[in-house]
Amino acid sequence: MQSRQEIGTQLSFALYGAANRMNRLHKPFLDPLGLTFPQYLVMLELYNGTPRSVGDIGHKLGMDTGTITPLLKRLESAGRIIRTRDRTDERRVLITLTDNGHALQKELWQVTERIKSACQLSDVKLEELRDTLNGFAHPADNRTSSTQTKGTGMKIGIIGAGNIGSTLAHKLSGQGHTVKLANSRGPETIAELAQKVGAVAVERQEAVRDVDVIILSIPFDKHAELTELQRDIPDNVIVIDTSNYYPFRDGDIREIREGKPESVYASEIVRRPLIKAWNAVLAETLKEKGLAVGSPSRIAIPVAGDAPAAKSVVMELVRQTGFDAVDAGTLSESWRQQPGTPAYCTELNAEELEAALQSADKTRAPLNRDALIKEFMSAGDQLTHDVIIKRNRAVTAPVKKGTL
Ligand SMILES: NC(=O)c1ccc[n+]([C@@H]2O[C@H](COP(=O)([O-])OP(=O)(O)OC[C@H]3O[C@@H](n4cnc5c(N)ncnc54)[C@H](OP(=O)(O)O)[C@@H]3O)[C@@H](O)[C@H]2O)c1
Repeated sequence: MQSRQEIGTQLSFALYGAANRMNRLHKPFLDPLGLTFPQYLVMLELYNGTPRSVGDIGHKLGMDTGTITPLLKRLESAGRIIRTRDRTDERRVLITLTDNGHALQKELWQVTERIKSACQLSDVKLEELRDTLNGFAHPADNRTSSTQTKGTGMKIGIIGAGNIGSTLAHKLSGQGHTVKLANSRGPETIAELAQKVGAVAVERQEAVRDVDVIILSIPFDKHAELTELQRDIPDNVIVIDTSNYYPFRDGDIREIREGKPESVYASEIVRRPLIKAWNAVLAETLKEKGLAVGSPSRIAIPVAGDAPAAKSVVMELVRQTGFDAVDAGTLSESWRQQPGTPAYCTELNAEELEAALQSADKTRAPLNRDALIKEFMSAGDQLTHDVIIKRNRAVTAPVKKGTL
């Protein structure tokens, strides 16, 4: 019994001692550079890319505003960083590195190497220790960080944290992917949501940096706001589009009215090849109706795009969200899964979906779309999920020969 009271048996004591030792190990390297240990962590984080908002840095490092703000002010006085107000949102303060701050980068990376050797542990042991402590300190990131280091998960950036974006974040992080989530108003506004769905809330610029896959899940008329963002993304990054065009909401777009498929238009706007996926499934279906592989009533989702390799990656991601994936052809054929077609939000299995894609009628689709949305909007509170599916099926069903 007595040994249980021993301070040396307490986890808290072990963690306290380890944290103190870490601080002591860093001191001889950081003192000559005029940096404290927390300032050093902020600098390392800034080397991942700037500008960054104060809220984002604080969130990443687990520091509240009361801690991060004075720390950043001191770094600014020391000439390492610059703080400016975001011109698009006066409430946000953005941090960039000065030349002096950039000049420290090499030296600070050397510090991390020196600390590694001072620990006198093998690389494998160090990685295990780091993952265990990260898992303990940040339970929400536990699953994703460990799978990422094992190399099994992908790095996914989602822009749009609404019905579809947040549900995808939840499902994909649940599959062991590392997910970053961004909206238009800044990470502070979705920090709680992101934590709940197993993602990290970030700025839009950060969501597209160092990822394998980007999912755009924003209202159709907002694509133009993302053009700049896509400019520096490497060609091998897969960009997925979940959007749908509704004229009453997104305005009249002549080219789409004249028949250009929505995602071809979006692809031209963002100047990236896109893969169209998860657009033809209602948010509630996506959230509630995913089933295990092989379930007889598993719903299927169409995926369209031009690059076969990228499309097969996306189809696998679709499967991981609980749905069968059906290859719906190239992006120019993706009108077959747009609103008003029999493939759109009708909850079909793979075989039925393939037939629905084939039977789509390009002229009827926009008429169906407009008639259905008008009906749904006027139904108000009476409208249920089941009614939407039923009406989508009924209105978009192929016209039988001889009935006209
Ligand atoms: N709802 C469905 O059942 C459903 C089904 C399939 C496909 N879709 C399509 O998928 C897309 C997303 O739908 P949703 O229902 O998830 O929309 P939503 O709930 O309205 O969410 C839209 C999200 O996009 C963000 N956003 C808007 N403009 C942005 C910008 N310029 N930069 C970054 N983020 C921006 C919003 O952030 P802020 O709030 O900060 O502005 C919000 O987080 C739409 O194109 C929709 O047609 C919807």
